[in-house]
Amino acid sequence: MTRLTGIKACVFDAYGTLFDFGSAVARCADIPDTKRAALTVLWRDKQIQYTLLRSMQDRYADFEQVTGEALDFALDSTGLTDGGYRQTLLDLYRTVSAYPEVPQMLATLRSQGLVTAILSNGTPSMLDAAIRHAHIGPSLDHVFSVESIGIFKPSARVYQFAVDQLGIAREAICFVSSNGWDAYGAAAFGFQVAWCNRAGQPAERLPGQPTVMLKSLEVLPGLLADR
Ligand code: LAC
Repeated sequence: MTRLTGIKACVFDAYGTLFDFGSAVARCADIPDTKRAALTVLWRDKQIQYTLLRSMQDRYADFEQVTGEALDFALDSTGLTDGGYRQTLLDLYRTVSAYPEVPQMLATLRSQGLVTAILSNGTPSMLDAAIRHAHIGPSLDHVFSVESIGIFKPSARVYQFAVDQLGIAREAICFVSSNGWDAYGAAAFGFQVAWCNRAGQPAERLPGQPTVMLKSLEVLPGLLADR
């Protein structure tokens, strides 16, 4: 890992990076405690797997549908299908909590003169709901959804879309993601990447090399203060 240099814009992944997707299950009453962890992990894993498979099959469906279908699998797999949780969990997913350091971190980046954006698999409607809930709209210059392109990350077409919309060279963009596959995909594309490795995951064995690895987003403005 080296250091971030010549950065003009910070582009963030949404779920897992700015927003804690685990907060949906955590805020859903009545789910047995013994099943919460498994349900959270299975739901997320299936959601990502379905985006990758649909991209490979050229059968795009929006992230709201994919998230619901992944939840159906996860509820089935944990024996919770008949608990009446489906709609409650999908509603809670629309208002997932932001990680605590996010509002201040975004405001600081803006005060440092950086352009801020989200580039997410989420639909515009899902992203809008989460951004409103977290009150971070004023600190974001742009919100880009793959809905405009019809394929999910880590397709290079998605990363290129952000470059085209921003009109900033890929080398001058710091892409920030907590998802290893997304961080490596973005690095392979040519972004400078800050991998927010919240869960302390090992290095991915994939093309691309993140520029820096962080434990939380709190330190990001400091890394870009002297750019
Ligand atoms: C996103 C998911 C993949 O926000 O984290 O794009």
